Amino acid sequence: MFSQEFKNRIIEAKSAVVLTGAGVSKESGLDTFRDPGGFWSQHNPMDLASQGGFAENPKLVWQWYMFRRNTLTNAKPNPGHFALKEMENLFESFAIFTQNVDRLHHQAGSRKVYELHGNIIESHCNDCGLVYLDEIDVEKALPVCPVCKGFVRPSVVWFGEQLPEDVLESAVDWTRSADLFFTIGTSAEVYPAAQLPHLAKESGAYVVEINPNPTSFTRFADLSLREPSGIILPQILELIREIRLND
Ligand code: OAD
Repeated sequence: MFSQEFKNRIIEAKSAVVLTGAGVSKESGLDTFRDPGGFWSQHNPMDLASQGGFAENPKLVWQWYMFRRNTLTNAKPNPGHFALKEMENLFESFAIFTQNVDRLHHQAGSRKVYELHGNIIESHCNDCGLVYLDEIDVEKALPVCPVCKGFVRPSVVWFGEQLPEDVLESAVDWTRSADLFFTIGTSAEVYPAAQLPHLAKESGAYVVEINPNPTSFTRFADLSLREPSGIILPQILELIREIRLND
């Protein structure tokens, strides 16, 4: 079912790089942002994921993130996450760059995971950056920094904020030297993450998109697999295993 060209690229590939987005966690029961019914069809992103929104209504912002944290307590990695974990051992070098804040790649056991948009589990002071470890109950009181008294916030990257510089630099370095690049479960709408598949292509990688729906990147992809990642990634894993066994 997979093309000979894809197989040849796997045979030759030493380095594989993966960019993931919310779609990879869909089959773990988590909502995406831009699908029909997704978060951004119900909320204005600027109200919930920007400095302006936080200044305007910190309680609303915290309520939304606490809701998402609570949803996460029951979420488990799905077969897509586990297949990516196994792929790590089948290439000389392999890294995942994720826009997801849910830590499900870590839970699946992947070791080289870089979080482009932070994570939703941790919190820090919005003013001085101090990591905040105390229990949070926003219905009782909004968390405040014990040192500078600034508001504490979830450790995610909001619209208008810089991505962690070291993570972005690694993403660019890894992408430039990738032989195979997978863009999985992302609408490829949010920059700079959305630039990575383009950079991979310019740098000579074979770029595979996995997404049940077309995106603005689809026409640039070498291979577009219109399947849920939890279904197709285990099949790709099997293909790579067979190829490596016969190497
Ligand atoms: P989006 O919601 O924009 O895109 C999710 C993509 O997943 C869509 O293209 C879907 O077609 C696809 N999808 C749905 N189900 C899938 C499945 N089972 N398998 C594979 N793909 C599936 O989410 P992201 O691209 O991750 O940032 O969004 C990027 C950023 O925008 C997020 O990190 C977040 C958001 O605003 C911030 O909050 C800063």
